[in-house]
Amino acid sequence: MSAAAGRFLWGSATAAYQCEGAWREADKGPSNWDVFCHSEANSVNPVTGDVAADHYHRFEEDLDLMVAGGQNAYRFSIAWTRVIPDGTGAVSEAGLAHYDRVIDACLARGIEPMVTLYHYDLPQPLFERGGWERRETCEAFARYARTCFERYGDRVRLWLTINEPNYDTLCSYAIGNYPPNVRDLDRRWRAMYHMLLASAHAVREFRSLGLSGQIGLVSDSYYIDTLVDDPAYDEAARNADLFFNRSVNDVAVLGTLPPEMRERLEADGCDTSYVLPGDEDILAEGRVDFLGVNAYERELVKPSDGSPTNLTANNTGRPEDNHEKTVRGWFTLDSDPSVPKNAWGMELYPRSVYGLLMDLREKYPDTPVYITENGMGYADELVDGRVRDDYRIEYLRGFVEWILRARAEGCDVRGYFVWSTMDLYSWINGYRKRYGLVYVDYGDDCRRIPKDSFYWYRDMIKERGE
Ligand code: BG6
Repeated sequence: MSAAAGRFLWGSATAAYQCEGAWREADKGPSNWDVFCHSEANSVNPVTGDVAADHYHRFEEDLDLMVAGGQNAYRFSIAWTRVIPDGTGAVSEAGLAHYDRVIDACLARGIEPMVTLYHYDLPQPLFERGGWERRETCEAFARYARTCFERYGDRVRLWLTINEPNYDTLCSYAIGNYPPNVRDLDRRWRAMYHMLLASAHAVREFRSLGLSGQIGLVSDSYYIDTLVDDPAYDEAARNADLFFNRSVNDVAVLGTLPPEMRERLEADGCDTSYVLPGDEDILAEGRVDFLGVNAYERELVKPSDGSPTNLTANNTGRPEDNHEKTVRGWFTLDSDPSVPKNAWGMELYPRSVYGLLMDLREKYPDTPVYITENGMGYADELVDGRVRDDYRIEYLRGFVEWILRARAEGCDVRGYFVWSTMDLYSWINGYRKRYGLVYVDYGDDCRRIPKDSFYWYRDMIKERGE
């Protein structure tokens, strides 16, 4: 019997590379992030996840804190490189045993484990052979997924295939701030397509085992909004919806590429020869049971004036570093001066999640949703042993209110996970940008100190939880 069957899940989330550390412990093989972080290409915030939050050694302490914080679910990812160190070869018993311990520790505490199979970290040998640009990676992923289902499927009820095909590939292949640091939208679409295909393969493996759990995919999804209500803005919004949302969600939920997607890419001169006959059957059979949604902000757009579409990334928190990468003209990103932003340019606009959930209900009425991530990055400070993160409480509270309102109005939302359980490595943003409910004092042996938001979350769950 699962820990929290039927209950609304109130939890928090992490990802292996961002928190585990222990980068060479047991049999673990190198991932693309291990190698990238140790390379000269890692120049913006040149730090690594070698130790990170040391969660590999401290997961029991972290789970104890979750219990103290009233949480009943934990979303974490498995490092592929621990389970199959080179991605395709021998399975590591030591790697498998580590996640046995994590899962069992969750269940012993009444915490529902929600397991992500892939969260940005690819085994380096696969990465060197072309990574997600190659079909071989889909097949390797299916085998890895099956290995995990066979080992943990008796205890894990909620599975997630891949985290954020959209955002991950935008960063890796369009903006170019994640490895392999490519700026080529053609290659980006190819990589994303293979991730979606890999997810479908994994879902098929899952079904073939007849397990009783459910499986989804994590999509960074956006409420698409405009400041002006006119046909040109509406068209920009439709384009942005296709670009950011439907390109992933239609495939995962409906099992098919949106028809206008391929037309649009071909009109843009993109190569789509990687879409092969027979794929449509794999995608159709690989439809998910639920959608995991990472909800942070909306995408505010305006019509493209014919010049290329802008995508932005800011990994320093300095406005002058808000660089734009241009892609072809589907829409242009807009900005609303009346909405506050955090130091990294993220809008603090909780109402966006209500619009997003309503939109998902309209498009995919039969598919339940879990908010698998929501959180606020801030350069928190520990002062006199305490982190007074009122700004984060205000942001999270707003999201919770709007999510519960959408739920009351009929959206099938089944859980909410704060990003993140504790402070951790924030990819190119390094360690200064913190999201945790629990502060990690990196200078003091990764000591844990619950922030004010941790207590707020505990009390809110007690008051509102069902
Ligand atoms: C999500 C990712 O996109 O956003 C997380 O799934 C990530 O892994 C989080 O940490 C916040 O983004 P960032 O870049 O500020 O750490």
